[in-house]
Amino acid sequence: MEQKWWKEGVVYQLYPRSFKDSNGDGIGDLKGIIEKLDYLKELGIDIIWLNPIYKSPNDDMGYDISDYREVMDEFGTMEEFKLLLEGLHHRGIKLVMDLVVNHTSDEHKWFVESRRSIDNKYRDYYIWQKGKDGNPPNNWGSCFSGSAWQYDEVTDEYYLHLFSKKQPDLNWENPQLRKEVYDMMKHWFEMGVDGFRMDVINFISKVPGLPDGPKGEGDLYGNFAPYSMNGPRIHEFLQEMNREVLSKYDVMTVGECPGVSPEMAKTYVGKDRNELNMIFQFELMDIGKGRTKWEEKKWTLREFKGIMSKWQEELSDDGWNSLFLNNHDQPRMVSRFGNDKKYRVESAKMLATMLHTMQGTPYVYQGEEIGMTNVKYSAIEDYKDLEILNAYKELVEGGLMKKEDFMAGVYRMGRDNARTPMQWDDTLNGGFSTGTPWLKVNPNYTDINVEAALKDNNSIFYYYKKLIQLRKENPVIVYGEFKEYYKDSEEVYCYKRELNGEKLLVVLNFFGNEVEFAVPEELKALERTIFISNYIEVSVENNIKLRPYEAIVYKLS
Ligand code: NOJ
Repeated sequence: MEQKWWKEGVVYQLYPRSFKDSNGDGIGDLKGIIEKLDYLKELGIDIIWLNPIYKSPNDDMGYDISDYREVMDEFGTMEEFKLLLEGLHHRGIKLVMDLVVNHTSDEHKWFVESRRSIDNKYRDYYIWQKGKDGNPPNNWGSCFSGSAWQYDEVTDEYYLHLFSKKQPDLNWENPQLRKEVYDMMKHWFEMGVDGFRMDVINFISKVPGLPDGPKGEGDLYGNFAPYSMNGPRIHEFLQEMNREVLSKYDVMTVGECPGVSPEMAKTYVGKDRNELNMIFQFELMDIGKGRTKWEEKKWTLREFKGIMSKWQEELSDDGWNSLFLNNHDQPRMVSRFGNDKKYRVESAKMLATMLHTMQGTPYVYQGEEIGMTNVKYSAIEDYKDLEILNAYKELVEGGLMKKEDFMAGVYRMGRDNARTPMQWDDTLNGGFSTGTPWLKVNPNYTDINVEAALKDNNSIFYYYKKLIQLRKENPVIVYGEFKEYYKDSEEVYCYKRELNGEKLLVVLNFFGNEVEFAVPEELKALERTIFISNYIEVSVENNIKLRPYEAIVYKLS
């Protein structure tokens, strides 16, 4: 297998708005990140993925960009950005930026021009259409509630926005637009950044004619997915981007690709495709979602393992996995897949053991390394995420869902769960800011915080540090083959990794009760030593009782 730095590294995802505020305005900033670089170095991560820091009116927290070449005012200046990049490189940490080019802000100068007149030079940078009998051009709904079309009086046409109406979709059919994007990417690479995470990159090619999408029972709008995800020219565009830009630099790319199967994934990341290095797929993230994300569907461990293992097996010799259980759009992993009360520490470590012993590149989302949890605000006004606020208007105020049911959905799945400020210590606002934080701090900061974690040898933090270190020292974790045991077990996830005779056996109890476990028959004769475990005294017997959320990795010889 080809060896690459982005396969061997561990990525830390940093959400700047909530990381560290240096000037007391309640919003995290670049200087705040610079203050904490030694903390990140101590954890041992190799790469940082920084959520968008570009100029933005912040309708969607930086995913609505009004200038791709400037830094958002609240975050600081270009000089500070350069200092940050220097500070990271100085510590041997690479920097991956967010590339958001499915859409811009409606305040971007291209859109301001585009909207002026039908024959404006920038008109065709976006997707404009006439309405149909006083209605939008088609039935598509946006990801953030409502129609995906916004009427604009100036020219009596509608523009497409798959996200909020302040995020008009770019028209990738236009070669001039594509060239502008490539030039912008080169600009950042020339400055020294080491890669891009590409926002909803599989949305950029739309099926011509933009046909109506399928509408399920009870749906208010048609689904755009069949006509604007993995569209007809997507691979042509990505290969062009690769030829024009990516191939000229030693950089890492990870494409955010909702709705992608392993077969499709290989068309993006396969060795001979010349497109991307990795993708984020969401099969596991979609587990347990009902008709909408606010409704719950029960999931089983077998389903969970089925998804994880399928991706391990399918991309084992072509492509590369991204390993994550949460990010800025998902609830906190310990609350969702573990137990954020009695077994918070054990279950956070157990989940981390899985992520860091699979084939692929692990992503640690800020705060995960100290086991930060979901939050519950009682007032809807305390939420800042437009996905939540728009859905509340459409569903609760529109009489389609009971308030308590919707709030239960928000507590379970809402994006603000992951966006609460980083908990640094037990002082005011968890040490995040001396001002009023833009989003309320999770009240559990008095117990769960970095300072406390650094003082405790048994903390989740030090367990992550060890996992990260083990990956660096043991190529079997990075490149080893994957083989699963006890696929039907509804309690335990068990798999082996193997490379050139080096063997690891991973055993994970996913629940809060004790469970019997026997070492798989074919491995019984091998000698076992403990490689890492989340309990202190661990048995190497063939038949054991796993304790709540116990994780054991054995070295076999
Ligand atoms: C995916 C990003 O991760 C999310 O935060 C954002 O709202 C949408 N794309 C739109 O850019």
